[in-house]
Amino acid sequence: MRHKIVAGNWKMHKNAEETEDFLNELIDQLPDDLNAEIIVAPTFVNLASAADHVEFTPITVAAQNMHQAESGAYTGEISGAFLSKLGCKFVLIGHSERRQYHSESDEVVQAKVAAAWKHGLVPIICVGETLEELETQGQSAVPVAQTIAALSGHETLGEFVIAYEPVWAIGTGKVATPQEAEEVSKAIRKAITENFGAESGQSRILYGGSVKANNVAGFLASGEVDGVLVGG
Ligand code: PGA
Repeated sequence: MRHKIVAGNWKMHKNAEETEDFLNELIDQLPDDLNAEIIVAPTFVNLASAADHVEFTPITVAAQNMHQAESGAYTGEISGAFLSKLGCKFVLIGHSERRQYHSESDEVVQAKVAAAWKHGLVPIICVGETLEELETQGQSAVPVAQTIAALSGHETLGEFVIAYEPVWAIGTGKVATPQEAEEVSKAIRKAITENFGAESGQSRILYGGSVKANNVAGFLASGEVDGVLVGG
């Protein structure tokens, strides 16, 4: 059975003190019989301290982004080499806010996935349709196409996680139903299996977009959805 993931994308929130306070609270509240992988993605400036803080706990740390180059004249960017060195296990790639505000194309996402694997990081590849795409192409077409694009052109595939996050649901309070999330997860899994083999088809697929305490159980109960990515 695939191990569930509960991941938090902190976006540009929480200073150093708030990061520490939140992690302490989270560690205190973890149940003894925890049966899920807990991932937090703080801002870059708090990543190293967060990684140290959770070292002997079941929590792991993700970066919210990385650059595809190993090093170089890329002012303001962070490479995967730095991230793995400081204890980061996961990295979000292609979050819709990166695609939207930083013009990250499918090609860039694909290159970042390759760079993540090169540095021993597990990419959490974010995919999802806008409201316009939902209305014109249905719910699965864009996330499936983005998934295939991110995974194509690699000699071999490393470990990865897909996060299905409809753009219309992120930070809006509008949420896909667990049934919709299941349908899209199924379509993504089918496409991965057909294009990249049965083993890759067993990768975990999360749902994200206005997940809250009052609706999270529906997603976690699904056999098709392997966890959640929570922002706000
Ligand atoms: P949200 O964001 O939970 O605030 O909708 C999810 C995300 O951006 O990963």
